[in-house]
Amino acid sequence: MSIRFIKDTQQFVINTKNTTYAFAIHRDRYLCHTYYGKRVRSAALPEKRLKMYSFAPYIAEYGEKESPDIFMQECSFYGSGDFRANSLRLCSADGTGVTDFVYSSYRIFKGRRELDGLPAGRADEHTQTLEITMTDSVSGCKLMLYYTVFAENDIISRYMVIENLGEHSVRIDKCMPLTLDLPRSDLDMISLYGRHNHEVNLQRVPLHHGVQSVGSRRGATSHQYNPFIALCDSKATEEKGEAYGFNFVYSGSFLDEVEVDQTNGTRVLIGLGSECFSYTLGVGESFCSPEAVMTYSANGIGQMSRNFHGFIRNNIMPPVSLEPHPVVLNTWEACYFRINEEILLDFAREAKKTGFDMLVMDDGWFGKRNNDRAGLGDWFENREKFPDGLASFVKKVKAEGIKFGIWVEPEMVNPDSDLYRAHPEWALRVEGREPLRSRHQFVLDMANDEVVEYLMEMFDKTFEGIDIDYFKWDMNRHMSNVGSSVLAPERQGEAHFRYMKGVYKLLSWFGKRFPNAVIETCSGGGGRYDIGMMQYGIQIWTSDNTNPYDRTYIQASAMMGYPAATMSCHVSDPHGDLKSLDYRYKVALGGMLGYELNILKMSDEIKETIARQIAEYKSFDSLARLGDYHSLALPTKYGYSAYYYVNADRSEILLSVIEKKDCKKGSTKLLKIREAIADAIYTDKRSGKQYSGETLRRGISVELSGEPDSATLMYLQREI
Ligand code: GLA
Repeated sequence: MSIRFIKDTQQFVINTKNTTYAFAIHRDRYLCHTYYGKRVRSAALPEKRLKMYSFAPYIAEYGEKESPDIFMQECSFYGSGDFRANSLRLCSADGTGVTDFVYSSYRIFKGRRELDGLPAGRADEHTQTLEITMTDSVSGCKLMLYYTVFAENDIISRYMVIENLGEHSVRIDKCMPLTLDLPRSDLDMISLYGRHNHEVNLQRVPLHHGVQSVGSRRGATSHQYNPFIALCDSKATEEKGEAYGFNFVYSGSFLDEVEVDQTNGTRVLIGLGSECFSYTLGVGESFCSPEAVMTYSANGIGQMSRNFHGFIRNNIMPPVSLEPHPVVLNTWEACYFRINEEILLDFAREAKKTGFDMLVMDDGWFGKRNNDRAGLGDWFENREKFPDGLASFVKKVKAEGIKFGIWVEPEMVNPDSDLYRAHPEWALRVEGREPLRSRHQFVLDMANDEVVEYLMEMFDKTFEGIDIDYFKWDMNRHMSNVGSSVLAPERQGEAHFRYMKGVYKLLSWFGKRFPNAVIETCSGGGGRYDIGMMQYGIQIWTSDNTNPYDRTYIQASAMMGYPAATMSCHVSDPHGDLKSLDYRYKVALGGMLGYELNILKMSDEIKETIARQIAEYKSFDSLARLGDYHSLALPTKYGYSAYYYVNADRSEILLSVIEKKDCKKGSTKLLKIREAIADAIYTDKRSGKQYSGETLRRGISVELSGEPDSATLMYLQREI
């Protein structure tokens, strides 16, 4: 059993493979966190912290050592004596927002509770859930805190459900389903920041007193701040030290807050925040929050990352993503909007000859879509470009013996579209205010069921009977003027959350309606690179930036929280340069390989090289997709990037060393492949050289050339 209640000490103890998490019921009322770390016996769990601090309010009967402001809490409530950033603020009939739930009961069960229309970790045979019920006699509400345990990957998820059993409506004003209080603050915080084209830059800074946060008010998790954060020992490395990782299984506006308080404790909160979220619960109604996840590693940052990698692969991504992902030729950087049947059939023919699995027709195939000023919303083929229609075109592509993928951006509408002309009220907007444009487009109101239904009908009709293998689902602007024509004024705060539920509904519908197709999600590259989206797609277009130098940074940082199987990595035009092609290929091997170049303008030599690359990739693609990732040198720190993937029985290793643009010539790096089996012999299938496992573990020397576009790849296989 991973979850137990110990009566004597009134403690709940959650064990995963390598970790223990514990908290105690105190005074039949509070839930005091006691421990999160390396797996320990229950007897070794620390006591609750009861200490006196002045200016810390308490219930008279319990005395001044017992303030909610000092307790490490499992869920902290606004206005009831805990002055730190709080987890829940509920405004009930008294209008004060003062919230105070009291422990009532618990239940432990196998599996998990489904989340109401939201993505969540899929239960496996080991999954268990602890449900804690708390009540508030003033508002009449019931609060359920859930701890769902994915023991194999050391993941614990947290989500909450609030039921209004009172006599009046209540409004949730802040909702942070994950709260973790740690009795220490000597930690670094790792986060991923960026912008369009430069996503997921790694930032690692020491915690300081006060609140430090990342979040999004953009209606998408965003390129600017990713919801993944980690806390680690200030000296933690890939292999040593403690690390705690956190993430949110959600794709919209969010808030990650970390507060260092007066006791030198640290509180972590992950959730919907309060700025872009409020939710009214009528009498008898209930609200289910999205799920947040956390993990702990006693063996360095690398193990923390691998915990997330395993969880996302096995419990989040569609099972089909465990199988080989298609190597695609995407038309975007090759053609932009200049596509038509004739050009694309030539693409299909050449792509097939070169060994591609699939042709992906990107933007430009529908409505009046000749540039980005028109057409979004009009999801029917452009007859000037496809005179015989989409169905006939796709048939011809398929006749070339290649699969077919197509680009869609369902959540958006151009003002210059039939859809917008017919239904301007279907775009998010605020009466009397000029709606802002971004990439010449508006955002459809996905909180409006009618819009979601309409999109289903339209796509149903357009793709009826067409054998589509793959959708690239894009989202190319953030939400401003967020107002929904179907929500009453007092419910407008629900628009962000309801929007996301509408998107998830449509994504699920796509999955069911087109069961043979897979989805790659995208948001101007990595604008929705999050665990929420990972549930629906086999991979995410990591960034619009395909420059291999920049990609080296982006991919290395993304691996901090996400597995390589989620990263769609394309080789873009090497401008006829074979060395550059080789370099771009080796960079793209960090994730799922694809290409985005004009195959009709390539020399035979380039095409033959690409064919060889694809064939080679297919010989070892399972390593990046399913293997364990070990980072040896982060490009943010060194003049090069080095990492390897290793399979479960350690019989295959893919080692990659990517030199950066400004790498120093001649320096030799010792790369320790500690996962190699000591007494085995490995052969590098690329060079034919043999190494003993012990040599690999002690380190092999790789000399950096200092030349532009240099990268070393070794595919090591164990000799039987
Ligand atoms: C976004 C995507 C690109 C491409 C364009 C098409 O920017 O990230 O890959 O699909 O849209 O407009």
